[in-house]
Amino acid sequence: MIDGERLWRRISELAEIGHQDSGGVTRLSLTDEERTAKDMVAEYMQEAGLAVHEDAAGNLFGRREGRDPDASAVLVGSHVDSVYEGGNFDGPLGVLAGIEVVQTMEEAGIETEHPIEVVAFTDEEGARFSFGMIGSRALAGRLFPEELKHEDESGISIAGAMRDYGLDPGRIGEASRPEGSVAAYVELHIEQGRVLENEGLPVGVVTGIAAPVWRKFVFTGETGHAGTTPMELRRDALSAAAEVMVVIEAEASKTGTTVGTVGQLSLEPGGINIIPGRVECSLDLRDIDEGTRDLVEERILERAREACEKRTVGFETEVLQRMAPASCSEKVRRAAESACEMLGIRPYSLASGAAHDGMQLVGLCEMGMIFVRSKNGVSHSPDEWSSNEDCTAGANVLYHTVLALASESSA
Ligand code: HGY
Ligand code: MN
Ligand code: MN
Repeated sequence: MIDGERLWRRISELAEIGHQDSGGVTRLSLTDEERTAKDMVAEYMQEAGLAVHEDAAGNLFGRREGRDPDASAVLVGSHVDSVYEGGNFDGPLGVLAGIEVVQTMEEAGIETEHPIEVVAFTDEEGARFSFGMIGSRALAGRLFPEELKHEDESGISIAGAMRDYGLDPGRIGEASRPEGSVAAYVELHIEQGRVLENEGLPVGVVTGIAAPVWRKFVFTGETGHAGTTPMELRRDALSAAAEVMVVIEAEASKTGTTVGTVGQLSLEPGGINIIPGRVECSLDLRDIDEGTRDLVEERILERAREACEKRTVGFETEVLQRMAPASCSEKVRRAAESACEMLGIRPYSLASGAAHDGMQLVGLCEMGMIFVRSKNGVSHSPDEWSSNEDCTAGANVLYHTVLALASESSA
């Protein structure tokens, strides 16, 4: 069994990095905070007896050899970057539980057939550049130079931030793992929803991961005097944006499975007595079924164009990132379900509404996830919380899952 107190202590220590007065953490990718967090994780990896290295995309690895050095590796991990004012568990739980798993094997003198690599991926969240999963895309050979042009709100591109961080964006190709070199990827993560809490379960096994499409909307109207411009003569960019936001909510709500969110909004010029001439906002649209999601997306765009035409407001949109839903591998799901049974936990399957690095690895290896119950389903918030007991239960399920996968004959 893993050492739950050591895991809990490390979660608490890591939570200090990027800690905000609000009680949340802000550790954006390729910043000093993510660097400091990875340095702390690297120390934990060394304590666990792992060989530590970083790849060309800044992914941090701790490797434990198996009997067969040429066997494909079992990867286990998550990320340590966060959203703005995020919680202490989203990402760190999976990285630290991965370290706990291999440290427990080391201390028990347990040998596996396959090597095991604990990984902390660079920039899973996409909070800084509105483009995420940089590290896992690179590992899967799915990160392309043109995608490094995405900029943060101060105009720094991913490529620029990589250089500042000490990486050479021209070498991202070196981070990709060849076909057959990775046997499986398993991630322990908080559920970030209420299903396990409603079921009264500490742990669940993930069936599949819903896919987000992220868009940017730009509304171009006409700046004007708030006092002298009659309502019928206005081309108010914010009123147009507001109408479209209501459309997003209405269209996403129709299917019962789609979720649509506007998380970012900015307007110009921003005076209390000036009609906004330009508005930018984001769209995060998701569904476990890609076809359903894309139909809702089309409907939203159609109604947005109509609304803006009626208001003589310009409407432009661009896709920031588009992902396909990912199914978790039967093999990993079965290993996790047997681990639950072994530990006396009723195996329970559920889908993930949140996106995760594993989506990028589906083409490369067997991919699976294990969820830990979230209090009130809250996440991406300072109130994100899971109990020590549930984190320990999740890490024990992860332990037996990884042990089963890494013990398979490598022939
Ligand atoms: O946005 C997400 O679903 C994840 O937390 N990155
Ligand atoms: Mn996460
Ligand atoms: Mn997240």
